[in-house]
Amino acid sequence: MILVTGGAGYIGSHTVRELRERGADVVVYDNLVTGHIEAVGDAPFVKGDIFDKKLLVETFAKYKVDAVVHFAAFSLVGESMTDPAKYYRNNVAGTLSLLDAMLEAGVKYLVFSSSAATYGDTGDGLITEESPQRPTSVYGQTKLMMEQFMSDYDKAYGMKYVALRYFNAAGAHRSGEIGEAHKPESHLIPIILQAALGQRSHIGIFGDDYPTRDGTCIRDYIHITDLADAHIRALDYLENGGKSTYYNLGNGNGFSVKEVIETARKVTGIDIPAKVEGRRPGDPATLVASSDKIKRELGWKPRYDTLEEIVASAWKWHSTHPHGFEK
Ligand code: UFG
Repeated sequence: MILVTGGAGYIGSHTVRELRERGADVVVYDNLVTGHIEAVGDAPFVKGDIFDKKLLVETFAKYKVDAVVHFAAFSLVGESMTDPAKYYRNNVAGTLSLLDAMLEAGVKYLVFSSSAATYGDTGDGLITEESPQRPTSVYGQTKLMMEQFMSDYDKAYGMKYVALRYFNAAGAHRSGEIGEAHKPESHLIPIILQAALGQRSHIGIFGDDYPTRDGTCIRDYIHITDLADAHIRALDYLENGGKSTYYNLGNGNGFSVKEVIETARKVTGIDIPAKVEGRRPGDPATLVASSDKIKRELGWKPRYDTLEEIVASAWKWHSTHPHGFEK
């Protein structure tokens, strides 16, 4: 049995879907502060906080949990800079509470959602797992600290983990039933699509004076189902005796903000208005992953490998759920 913390959130709920479609037994554990109960569907659900060690230990025993996939975290880079206490408390102290509960209950396997934000500004080239980890945000710092705990817990207590460092998660489940719904929304593709739906007057481009081909920031967009697939492979790997490790997850192709807007215009057939605005503090110019390591070691391969497919998948969700999970 697999317990998924944050299983009502964007990446968590898609991973739960994918796990269940492949016949895995899953229990979702989420405090619903940012998650949506509607995204959980009919999966077994426990409403709880990762700080509630007693409830975690009881849940591990009740469901005979042998592995945890840990998504529960706050994840807004900008907010982490203005309210670091919230991020250190929830992401760092919360993860320690979860790890304590796992130790107490003897749960040995952990797949952990880490981030490209642990690298910070690395320059132009593809980022490999050996690129220096120097986060530029508190959010990235919390994810790096969590990776460090896991490494120490493996050495001392034999807890085995895989940390997955995601680049820019995007798109929605093929069923069209679940997708991205943050409040407030801060991510590029949903905001562009909100502008396409007329919910915003335009998409603001945060800076066009970066050292990139068109001056706007370059990111590596990776489909949510491809991310989900990597979690499943990581779980299989651990349960088959794999040793602790970490992987990047991206497509290996970078797209600029302007290129993403152009793709969205093509996919939606709508001439989405865009305006150049000032830079957003903390944004590195370019973040593109090398995912060779997970391809080589776990046989992972992104199935959505064009930006058109990724944006079309997001559009299917946003155009049919203009208010997310709200009726
Ligand atoms: N952007 C705009 N206008 C907007 C929103 C975003 O121009 O209205 C730009 C950003 O400046 C950035 C790019 O679009 O250059 C992508 O921005 P997102 O906010 O969609 O994503 P980020 O790259 O900032 O962040 C994502 C995840 C984080 C994670 C990070 C890792 O959302 O959780 O990748 O680098 F930490």
